[in-house]
Amino acid sequence: MNTLDAILSRRSIRQYTPKPVSREMIREILHGAMSAPSAGNERPWHFIIMTDRALLNEIPKFHPYSAMLKQASVAILVCGDVNLEKHKGYWALDCAAATENMLLAIHAKGLGAVWCGVYPTEDRVANLQKLLKLPVHIIPFSLIPVGFPAEAKQAGDRFDESRVHENQW
Ligand SMILES: Cc1cc2nc3c(=O)[nH]c(=O)nc-3n(C[C@H](O)[C@H](O)[C@H](O)COP(=O)(O)O)c2cc1C
Repeated sequence: MNTLDAILSRRSIRQYTPKPVSREMIREILHGAMSAPSAGNERPWHFIIMTDRALLNEIPKFHPYSAMLKQASVAILVCGDVNLEKHKGYWALDCAAATENMLLAIHAKGLGAVWCGVYPTEDRVANLQKLLKLPVHIIPFSLIPVGFPAEAKQAGDRFDESRVHENQW
């Protein structure tokens, strides 16, 4: 799959088969994530691989749009480390770039995933910090359940000419 095909055909996948995702695949996905651009190349991220069923099942109790975690055998929590930030305020943008890279790598490997929003919703951040015993400088940013797709989604065309401007508004 070439890069543009991957970008155009990726869709959020929220249903997964029980087939486990190998550690090798997770490593390749994280390799993609860590290749994302970041402000001043600060790379302020950490990734927590979550496989503990009890922990995964706790999250939908405080995150209303994460029920698919109950079905996923693995999820990756993207976290920002504010101590690694060189350019104030950019850590979240860097983590967003890493998250999107991850979603594309997952799709390119024939797996499915969805971006579950964490930051900047304060109660989700606080609950995940508590659940996973994160140090205060580690901010959970996005949570990505990963699995073999148990649903197929059509890639609709979202190009919108009315959002394109040239030189001036
Ligand atoms: C910042 C952000 C937060 C999101 N949070 C959730 C979420 O909590 N739960 C969920 O099921 N989907 C979530 N999504 C996925 C969006 O619903 C999805 O990307 C959007 O509907 C477009 O569909 P697509 O990903 O299939 O193109 C989130 C996406 C982004 C970018």
